[in-house]
Amino acid sequence: MPLEVDVLTLFPAMVEGPLGESIPARIQERGLATVRVHDLRRWGLGRHRTVDDYTYGGGAGMVLRADVVAAALADVRRPDTTVILLDPAGSVFRQATAHELAGRSHLVFLCPRYEGVDDRVRSMVDLELSIGDYVLTGGELAALVVLDAVLRLLPGAIDEASVAEESFAAGLLEYPQYTRPADLDGAAVPPVLVSGHHEQVRKWRLRESLRRTVDRRPDLIEDRALTKEEARMLDELRGDGGGTDEASG
Ligand code: ADE
Repeated sequence: MPLEVDVLTLFPAMVEGPLGESIPARIQERGLATVRVHDLRRWGLGRHRTVDDYTYGGGAGMVLRADVVAAALADVRRPDTTVILLDPAGSVFRQATAHELAGRSHLVFLCPRYEGVDDRVRSMVDLELSIGDYVLTGGELAALVVLDAVLRLLPGAIDEASVAEESFAAGLLEYPQYTRPADLDGAAVPPVLVSGHHEQVRKWRLRESLRRTVDRRPDLIEDRALTKEEARMLDELRGDGGGTDEASG
């Protein structure tokens, strides 16, 4: 069964554009997912289809009305729906959440604009997600980030080997990759990669993934259980000073 997605936004074109390109478009054409984008104004109030209002207590900016959101959700929600509010105060989106969401059957993304949402909306959603510690002009780009990460995980969406490789080194940064030419003005590709020796290539890649992660994102190592092989490699790396990953920082 394809993943069904409804996106609620005041700027449908902002969401439709990127989803109509490249892999996300192909995923939909192949029937792996159906994405519907709705203009929240459809549920707006009165002749002007009003969706926002002034904030009680005073302050700059307009707030998305909870009654408008409730009406929209009443129309799109089903028993199997996961409603996601994009908000800088949400929990930070990670790959593990992408995997979780890829296993659901119906996702609804709620994208606020302006100064955010009436706080009572939070009790109407299942999940609040932030894509990082910065403030966007609205939830659309955040919804696209989350949706892109979810779509590529659907069975058959991309080369299965790519996803398998990710889970092999899940939680680590990717190992360095190279393509032709083998020598770029004296900058040579690591010899092991052209050796044809699969086991040595595997070990080299794992070691370089660990090296890069320790250098650039040591927090990821702390969050992750290591296999015996990884722990041994990590000891070796730390033993010889580890850091040769020059382009970091
Ligand atoms: N809306 C505004 N900023 C956001 C962020 N960082 N993540 C999710 N939604 C947002």
